[in-house]
This record gives sequence, C-alpha cells and structure tokens, in this order.
Amino acid sequence: MHKHSEYMHWAKTQQRARYTLATSGVGACPIEELAFDASRLAIHGDNSYGYAPLVSAIAAKAAVDPDCVVTAQGTSFANYLAMAALIDHGDEVIVEHPAYGLLLDALLHLGATVKRFPRHEEDGYALNPAEVRRAMTPRTRLIVITNLHNPSSALAGEAELREIAETAREAGAHLLVDEVYLDAVFENTPRSAFHLGPAVVTTSSLTKIYGLSGLRCGWILAAPPLARAMWRLNDVFAASPVHPGELMSVAAFARLDHLRERVRRIVEPDRASLAAFLDTHPQVSAPRTRYGTTAFLRLHDGPADAFLDRLRSRYETTAVPGRFFEMPGHFRVGMGVDHEMFAEGLRRMSLAFSDGAA
Ligand SMILES: Cc1ncc(COP(=O)(O)O)c(C=O)c1O
Repeated sequence: MHKHSEYMHWAKTQQRARYTLATSGVGACPIEELAFDASRLAIHGDNSYGYAPLVSAIAAKAAVDPDCVVTAQGTSFANYLAMAALIDHGDEVIVEHPAYGLLLDALLHLGATVKRFPRHEEDGYALNPAEVRRAMTPRTRLIVITNLHNPSSALAGEAELREIAETAREAGAHLLVDEVYLDAVFENTPRSAFHLGPAVVTTSSLTKIYGLSGLRCGWILAAPPLARAMWRLNDVFAASPVHPGELMSVAAFARLDHLRERVRRIVEPDRASLAAFLDTHPQVSAPRTRYGTTAFLRLHDGPADAFLDRLRSRYETTAVPGRFFEMPGHFRVGMGVDHEMFAEGLRRMSLAFSDGAA
C-alpha cells in the first residue's frame, strides 16, 4: 500500500533557500490584513458538520447552496475526502499528466488503478476532452484535473470542462476539479466547475492564492447527497474542525476582494520579470500564462536535477524538480512571495546557466 509522498517530503525538507523559487502559493498574509477582532476568538463553536457562518461564506463565494459545501483541512484533505467518498479500492481513475504529485499519492493510497491522459506542452498544457475520452474505459469511475493546472497554470475553458463533465456523467463517473489556484485569474474569474453538471465535484481553499495556508480553510463542493456522504466519512477522521481557524477564516471571507488585490500587486511584477527572463534566456522555455502563481520551464539542456543542484549549492536558489511531475527535463518556478527575492533568484539562475557544469 502506498503510504508516503515523495514531493511533500521534498517540499517540507528541501524547498527553502535564501532565494526560494520553489513555492506554489503566495507569501504569508500578515494577520493585520484580516482585521480580525481577537476578543472574538473562541476555542469551541457549533461546528460538528461545519461552522454555519463559514459554510455560508463559502457557499456565497461559490454561488451554491450551503448543502453542497463540505469544509476540510486545506485542499489536501478536501481532495483526499472527496476521492475517498467517490471511489472504492481497485476503481479506475484517470488523472492528467503532468500532475500535482499529491493527487496521485492520495489515489494510490486509496488503492485506485490510476490511468493517465496527457496535457501537451506544445498546446500550452491545454485541457483536451478528446484525450480524456481516449484514456477512459468502461471501468473509469473518476477523472481528476487541476484548474488552474499545476504545474503550468494553464486555464481550462468552460467549454472543455463542460464536455469532460458530460463525458463523466454519461459514463456514470465523476469529475474532480482541484481549483485551488483558480482565484489567481484576477479578472473575469471563472465560476467553479461545480456549476457544469451533476457529475462534478470541486475542491479549493484559502491557502494558495490568499496566503492563508495556516488557517487550513479548505472545502469541497458536491451535490447534497454526496456532500452528506463526505461529512459522514469525515466522522472517521475528526470530531470537529479547529474552531479558532474557522473564526479567522470567516473574517478572511469578509475581506476576500481586498486580500486578492493585495496578492495581485505581489504576483504581477514577478510575472513581468519571468516573461522578460524567458525572452532573454534560450536555455529555457515555457508556455506563458496571464494567470497563476507557477510556471513550468523546460530546460533545453536537461535533465534538470543536475542544474537545480548547482543552482542550490552555488547560488542558494531553489525551484521544484520536474521529476515530481514525472517530467525530469523541466522545473517549476513559483511567483508571489517577494519581488526582490524572485528577481534575484532569476538573476542567479541566469548565472547558473552560464557557468555550466564547470
Ligand atoms: C493542485 C494542488 N492542490 C492542493 C494543494 C494543497 O493545498 P492546501 O495547502 O490547501 O492543502 C496544492 C499545493 O501545492 C496544489 O498544488
């Protein structure tokens, strides 16, 4: 039985450096930004099956009925709970490639038979419903994708998502869309794919785009009978959520637009620097996006591991090795923490290109 995650262990032990470009979400939001009245903090609350003000805030943001909301510890546990409710041991699950490692780890832990469908670099990692259909068999119970796509930040169109949702429904399967990065589409933010049909389940959180990882405020959107089944499954894991985190999360929802504007001001200069870097460094290439906090770079003189080792040891700079996305010739760069650090990290990457393996 699969009982570990190589990527998460790496992230917890190897990600940090003086110039950390190995992040996926934005930097920590200062507590003052929540304008939280600390005198309202309480240790316990009425939250056995969700703290009503938090469930309502999530439902209002997603424009869904509160009965469709299941709260969870971050998107990580939301994904696990959703998958565990949707599949049985041995069920076939189709997952995008390249994929965020934890999605695969959770599925393997649950005993799924995992099959893949490709998202092609030459198409900017676009989501192609025909590729999903090609990978499906009569045994497929679940399709798993990310939107925005981790690692590339590609945005899926609503038409493609709708087509895949319909394919899943016709097959008696579900479509799980991890939307943890979707709010990094700062203008005309698409609605949750949950609205695209009864076979769709989505997950998200305040962790990545709002810099509020410590609150662990995650959620699942699912049709009410499924949502109830997920709450019941959650009984196996937890008597109740951490209430102080729920109270602070409610405060965050009251200022979500303000928090997102703040984040936008941090991410966009990084994106401009990355674009200039890609324009001037033929050693790497990547599909450009106007969204998201990550980019997936191909190192033309790969594999990337030796380059990243040199970048770390000589230049105190880290990026995520592509091997964690089953693409060892690539690496992932993260934006939105600190512009000076990001710009200096890129400058050091440039030096690491030119000093070769000398
Ligand atoms: C696609 C995806 N889903 C989920 C997570 C984990 O999110 P959380 O911190 O909300 O548990 C990550 C973190 O990198 C991610 O990239």
